This record gives sequence, C-alpha cells and structure tokens, in this order.
Amino acid sequence: MEDIRKLQDDFGANITSASDSKTLEELRIRYLGRNGEVNRLMEKLPTLPSEERGSFGKEVNALKSAIKLALDEQEKKVSGEEISKLSDEKLDVTIPGIKPNLGHIHPVTQAMDEILQAFVELGYEIKEGPDVENDHYNFEVLNIPKSHPARDLQDTFWLTNGLLPRTHTSAMQVRTMETMKPPFKVAVPGWVYRQEREDATHASSFHQVEGFVVGEGISFANLKGTLFAILRKVLGSETELKFRASYFPYVEPCAEVSATCPHCKGQGCTVCKQSGWIEILGSGMIHPKVLQNAGIDPKKYSGFAFAFGSTRLAMLKYKINDIRLFTGGDLRFLQQF
Ligand code: DAH
Repeated sequence: MEDIRKLQDDFGANITSASDSKTLEELRIRYLGRNGEVNRLMEKLPTLPSEERGSFGKEVNALKSAIKLALDEQEKKVSGEEISKLSDEKLDVTIPGIKPNLGHIHPVTQAMDEILQAFVELGYEIKEGPDVENDHYNFEVLNIPKSHPARDLQDTFWLTNGLLPRTHTSAMQVRTMETMKPPFKVAVPGWVYRQEREDATHASSFHQVEGFVVGEGISFANLKGTLFAILRKVLGSETELKFRASYFPYVEPCAEVSATCPHCKGQGCTVCKQSGWIEILGSGMIHPKVLQNAGIDPKKYSGFAFAFGSTRLAMLKYKINDIRLFTGGDLRFLQQF
C-alpha cells in the first residue's frame, strides 16, 4: 500500500509540472505503458498473501484510472494552450511579398539587338570574334603595315605576348572572309578598345557593329542602299545620309557617313553642335589588297564594308549625353531604359 501511495505522490508531482503534450506523452508511457510503473506494481500481486490481493488490486486499478483521467485532463488543457499559441503566431498570407529586384537588358545591348535585327532582315549572318587579336588581323591584312601612320589613329594597349585588345571590329573582316566563299553578307558586333582620353563622347572601350558584303558586281550603290535601309530603321524613316570622302587604308574609295541628327531632325541643336548632322560611321569599297589577303580574287569579286559605334547610336537613340554613363554601373541611370 505504501508503494501505491508513493507512486501516486510521484505522479502527482510530475503531472502538475507537465506543460506540453510531449512531456505528457512521456508521462503516459512511464506510468501506463506496458513496462510502466503501474504494471510494475501489478506484478507484485502474486507475491502478496492471498487475503491482501483483492484490496491491493483494487487500489492499483483505482490509481490507474486516476492517472489516466489526470493525463487526459492535462492533455486537454495543454493542447488548448498550444492551439491558441499557434493561432497567435498565424501566417498572414495577405501581406504583400517582397518584390525581387529584376534586372533588364542594358541600353547598349538593346540598341545592338535592334541594329542586328535590321541586319538579319537584310539577310546578314551574325558572327562574333575574339576581343584579343593579333597584329596580323587587326592591322597587317587591312593594309596597315607596321610603319603606317594610320596606326596612330587607333593607338592602343599591347599585351606582353604581342597580342592586343582589338581596336576595331574590322579585325574580323579577313578572319571571316578566309572561312567563307563569296557571295556573303556578314555583321560582327563586339567591344573594341583604344587608348583614349575619356570624356563625354570618348570611352576607351565601346561597342561597334561591322558589316561587310562580298560578291560579284557589288558596287557603291549597294553600300548606299544598305546604309539607308539600316540607319532609317534604327534612327527613323526620315533620316538622310551625307557621304564625305575619307581615308581608311582597307577601303577605296572611302566615305565617312553622317546622318540627320535624330534629336532636332536636322534643325541644329546641342547634340549635333548646331550642324544638323551626326557623324556616324566609316565605310567604303573593300580594297583589292584586303580581298587578296583573304584569298578572294579581286578581279572576280568586289565588296563593301562599314562600321558604326553601337554605343554612339544608343546615345543618339536614348538622348544620352555622356558615354561614360553606360559603363558606370549607376542603377539610377540604367533603370530608365
Ligand atoms: N574600323 C574603323 C574604326 O573603327 C571604322 C571603319 C571605317 C570600318 C571604314 C570600315 C570601313 O569597315 O570601311 O574607326
């Protein structure tokens, strides 16, 4: 009987301090489980004198019911508390989420995509070449030998291994022509690098698109028609072009082309320095020596080539007055496009 009372006291102390369902479950196993305290008491039954067995059994059973009842009641109380605690911490699914910061296409890339689209519509193939070039493709095969003063126009950085960051996408002309059989039309977009004193209109790295066409009977008229088609698409259908004689050793004749200022429509403004025109590209008929350097017979084939700065075009298109903004990484600028 003393054992029964001891167990009762022991349980009493434990149940009052059990404040969560996990502890209650542990108590249930400890007291009412198959190998629990109550069954352990019952096991003593056969060892008792027979006259005590009846009352002992009754007492143990009464204790067993009392424990069960106490556990059930405490369980009810605790789970009610747990539920109300959970509902205090409930998730409000109506709170607006945190908007992720989405990026978008860089304005130079946007302009370039549009330019390339114009090329694709004219049946051009788009090719890309290495940013690090050698002297051969960047200068020699373009009719610019080592001592030629035209090299000074594109003074550049040289790497210690004799290579250089390409100064123009024209470096891809012979590289590409060597691998193709005329007729072909190719456009080459890419970054170019120069030794420049940077200011609002000069950057030491900028983006160009080169275009060139080689075939039988290709003439200056084809060059003009092509430039009108592309520049009117990019700058607006009323764009006029002005061709002026110029000099790049890889084309003959050579023309520098200006377009109607898209800002003032030729009226004169600060963007075009009141002239109404914006200088936009270099172009010309591919020099016979360049064709020869690419293994193409200049007696049979002719071609034209041109290149413009896509960065420059992006500036015109989006009315940007400082070229350095493109690479400055200022999100307040980039988010406007
Ligand atoms: N490569 C010249 C430059 O970057 C631009 C150029 C001029 C490209 C005349 C041509 C061309 O294809 O025919 O300044």
